Amino acid sequence: MKPMAATFLCLALLFLSQFSLLASSASNNLSLGSSLSVENEADTLTSPNGLFSAGFFPVGKNAYCFGIWYTEPAAPAQNLTVVWIANRDKPVNGKSSKLTLQGNGNLILTDAGKYTIWSSNTVSNSLDRLSLNDNGNLVLQTLKGVALWESFASPTDTLLPQQQLTRNTKLVSSRSLTNYSSGFYSLFFDNDNTLRLLYDGPEVSSIYWHDPWLLSLQARRTPYNNSRVAVLDAMGNFSASDGLIVIAADYGTNLQRRLKADVDGNLRLYSRKQAGDTWVVSWQAIQQPCKIHGICGPNGLCTYDPSSGRKCSCLPGYEMRNKFDWAYGCQPATDGLNLSCKSSDRDQFDFMYLPRVEYYGYDFSIVVNTTLEKCKALCLELCDCPGFHYKFGGGHHNCYPKTQFRNGYRAPGFQGELYLKLPKSILSSYNAATKESNMCSSKLTSQLDRTYEKGKQNGSVKFMVKFASGLGGFEIVCIFVVWYFVARRGEEKEDSDVVTQGYLQAATGFRRFSYSELKKATRGFKEEIGRGGGGIVYKGVLSDQRIVAIKQLNGANQGEAEFLAEVSLIGKLYHMNLIEMWGYCAEGKHRLLVYEYMEHGSLAEKLSSEVLDLKTKFEIAVGTAKGLAYLHEECLEWVLHCDVKPQNILLDSNYNPKVADFGLSKLLNRNEVSNSNFSKIRGTRGYMAPEWVHNMPITSKVDVYSYGIVVLEMLTGKSPAESVQAIESGGETQKKMMVTWVKEKMHGAFTKTESRMGADYEQGRLEMLVKVALQCLEEDRDARPTMSQVVEMLLHHENN
Ligand SMILES: *[C@@H]1O[C@H](CO)[C@@H](O)[C@H](O)[C@H]1NC(C)=O
Ligand SMILES: *[C@@H]1O[C@H](CO)[C@@H](O)[C@H](O)[C@H]1NC(C)=O
Ligand SMILES: *[C@@H]1O[C@H](CO)[C@@H](O)[C@H](O)[C@H]1NC(C)=O
Ligand SMILES: *[C@@H]1O[C@H](CO)[C@@H](O)[C@H](O)[C@H]1NC(C)=O
Ligand SMILES: *[C@@H]1O[C@H](CO)[C@@H](O)[C@H](O)[C@H]1NC(C)=O
Ligand SMILES: *[C@@H]1O[C@H](CO)[C@@H](O)[C@H](O)[C@H]1NC(C)=O
Ligand SMILES: *[C@@H]1O[C@H](CO)[C@@H](O)[C@H](O)[C@H]1NC(C)=O
Ligand SMILES: *[C@@H]1O[C@H](CO)[C@@H](O)[C@H](O)[C@H]1NC(C)=O
Ligand SMILES: *[C@@H]1O[C@H](CO)[C@@H](O)[C@H](O)[C@H]1NC(C)=O
Repeated sequence: MKPMAATFLCLALLFLSQFSLLASSASNNLSLGSSLSVENEADTLTSPNGLFSAGFFPVGKNAYCFGIWYTEPAAPAQNLTVVWIANRDKPVNGKSSKLTLQGNGNLILTDAGKYTIWSSNTVSNSLDRLSLNDNGNLVLQTLKGVALWESFASPTDTLLPQQQLTRNTKLVSSRSLTNYSSGFYSLFFDNDNTLRLLYDGPEVSSIYWHDPWLLSLQARRTPYNNSRVAVLDAMGNFSASDGLIVIAADYGTNLQRRLKADVDGNLRLYSRKQAGDTWVVSWQAIQQPCKIHGICGPNGLCTYDPSSGRKCSCLPGYEMRNKFDWAYGCQPATDGLNLSCKSSDRDQFDFMYLPRVEYYGYDFSIVVNTTLEKCKALCLELCDCPGFHYKFGGGHHNCYPKTQFRNGYRAPGFQGELYLKLPKSILSSYNAATKESNMCSSKLTSQLDRTYEKGKQNGSVKFMVKFASGLGGFEIVCIFVVWYFVARRGEEKEDSDVVTQGYLQAATGFRRFSYSELKKATRGFKEEIGRGGGGIVYKGVLSDQRIVAIKQLNGANQGEAEFLAEVSLIGKLYHMNLIEMWGYCAEGKHRLLVYEYMEHGSLAEKLSSEVLDLKTKFEIAVGTAKGLAYLHEECLEWVLHCDVKPQNILLDSNYNPKVADFGLSKLLNRNEVSNSNFSKIRGTRGYMAPEWVHNMPITSKVDVYSYGIVVLEMLTGKSPAESVQAIESGGETQKKMMVTWVKEKMHGAFTKTESRMGADYEQGRLEMLVKVALQCLEEDRDARPTMSQVVEMLLHHENN
């Protein structure tokens, strides 16, 4: 009978344990004296509404943390959306570790049954239980219902609705996507009472949000309210006592929301409708991810490409310090870079020129109004000077010798230049290609080349114009093959870059609209304000009173996911001279894009009404060039515009130009070219570069050509064909003649200028614009400047 009894006992035990397992998995509370074990996966607390769970979860091999996460998605365990962790820096063993609510009122976490790793440090003889509330708060409460301890009071990297960030708490990012321990980035209230983001790295620390060079009042924060409290509400309003108010893109609906200090140093607000949906970003603090400090470490250089995300690289002459972690940056390459200080060695050094590269902070000094030669000499003299910035400002050039290179990134908008000190031996091994600094654009261009058949090489502009005029319904498709390549280039993701991949809807305000919403905004698509470039544009007013331009795309019939992938790429491009896309709609057959509305309409309208003076025209030329340069630079050559014309240059209330309609052709179906007036034509007769006609490779230089035509048209008010003919009749780039001709056409722009000085200045501007336009119109695309060279030429003229 004994074996029988034993079997029975076993069965009973099994039954009992099964029962207790079920019971514990359904519980939302832990009573006095009981504990949760790491070994029993079902030992979790679940909030009454089922939204949150608390328990042990794996963080590595045989390493566990106790924390709170969203119950869904539950699998795999590594991908939990964790909102709080008790012991992030001290994971416990997978054997005999426990969370116990002791009789004396203390909640303790023990590792391997021995060591106390964490405790709530509470004592009470009237403790009731530990419970997980519907809002995600884990609370130790007394019999009277008083909260003795709560997880909301010690946030990890996430703030939930109703949870307050106070003077005593901060959000600290995780070390990486797979490592939950404390990372380098934190959100906290600074001594001046304002909320900030701090990079606190292995060697240095610095504040990077709000912009550190702004006084708090300039950043619209007040240092005068000492209450230091910030809170997020379920509607999507995150506001702080320093006056910061963040309104989520999807503000107004009661969604699941969380604010997180992400591993990449950005602060993001996430939302989703219900469990099981994926999280979308409805706000983020920093739009340009390379501006976050510390990401590429010392001597590292950050570049950002909306399609593949953020990338780190080392400066020439430097190599990665820790192969697996960019936080440690780069060090001088062991084979040769030795920034020696001996005066006898000085002539062995020279400088490498890197345009548009910014390293924030760590200046040795600032020397105002100096020459490049003097600046070089100074840096050679300083022992630790690895290079310097040379920037124009205040009417002269200034020199900023560096002590260290940190927070480095390349940005098309940055007007300074970096000179990197290197031994001549190293310098010579970096050829001109690297010096051009656009390290990947050459690669991209060659990819473009491959997709087009090389055509005949030459042909005159005149021929082109005639041919194009006779082109009739012949439609040309600008195929963004490189875009295609880049968008699908899945390899070489770095740890932090994987994060970026997920943020499809990251930019502020970029969101999805429903068709009915847009129908309402446009009052049934009533007010047409333009057409072309793939569809008709309507004016509308959103429910939050923002005025928008809504473009209804014709012939965009790819699937919703594909459409979204491409639209969100465009949505991520951000530059003051590019039209901002605020959202999109993809519903059934409808494909719409929502843009900011431009008060002054298009340049084309203003040109015909002749309201612009030369100064404004000059500024429009500069702004347009900057916008296009941004599209072309930063390895973004895949966003050629292909249809630069006055109709696509819009003007805001201050006559600042914004380039519109970029990146569209990929959205339109390229197989059916013949049955629509405005589907795939990239390029408009008169503005198209000769390459189109001759079936030559299409590069960013087609935009440069069209830009040249636009500038001429702006100056003369005459149609492209006339302008081009004038160039031809003017003979071999006879600038003087051209200028005279332009002047004649300019309807007395000069009679308005009063002083002689002013007239000289106007004359200078005019000559510069004509000169630039003529260079842009070179037949040979290699002879045309790049858009950023155009910007430099124009700005250089203004500064002198
Ligand atoms: C605590 O959990 C048990 C189930 O384990 C449940 O029956 C009880 O109602 C819960 N107590 C409270 C106050 O929610
Ligand atoms: C877990 O998350 C990572 C990164 O977000 C993702 O690549 C992976 O596919 C996810 N795993 C599963 C099974 O969902
Ligand atoms: C996580 O990062 C910390 C700090 O860098 C490190 O000490 C720890 O070993 C890492 N853990 C894992 C599992 O990689
Ligand atoms: C957001 O919250 C702040 C502080 O409570 C309030 O002043 C502000 O009006 C709110 N904004 C909106 C749009 O609700
Ligand atoms: C300071 O901020 C808190 C929280 O936002 C607010 O309640 C309080 O009125 C503010 N105090 C002053 C003096 O503005
Ligand atoms: C760098 O150069 C100095 C002087 O030439 C020399 O003393 C020093 O050893 C060198 N350092 C390295 C790491 O090569
Ligand atoms: C800059 O320096 C030059 C020569 O040293 C001097 O002529 C000029 O006035 C200076 N400019 C300013 C703005 O100080
Ligand atoms: C093309 O445009 C013309 C004039 O704008 C219009 O009459 C015609 O119906 C359009 N054709 C198509 C197919 O949309
Ligand atoms: C184009 O042809 C003209 C004559 O038709 C010639 O002068 C010019 O050099 C050619 N340009 C190129 C880039 O071949």
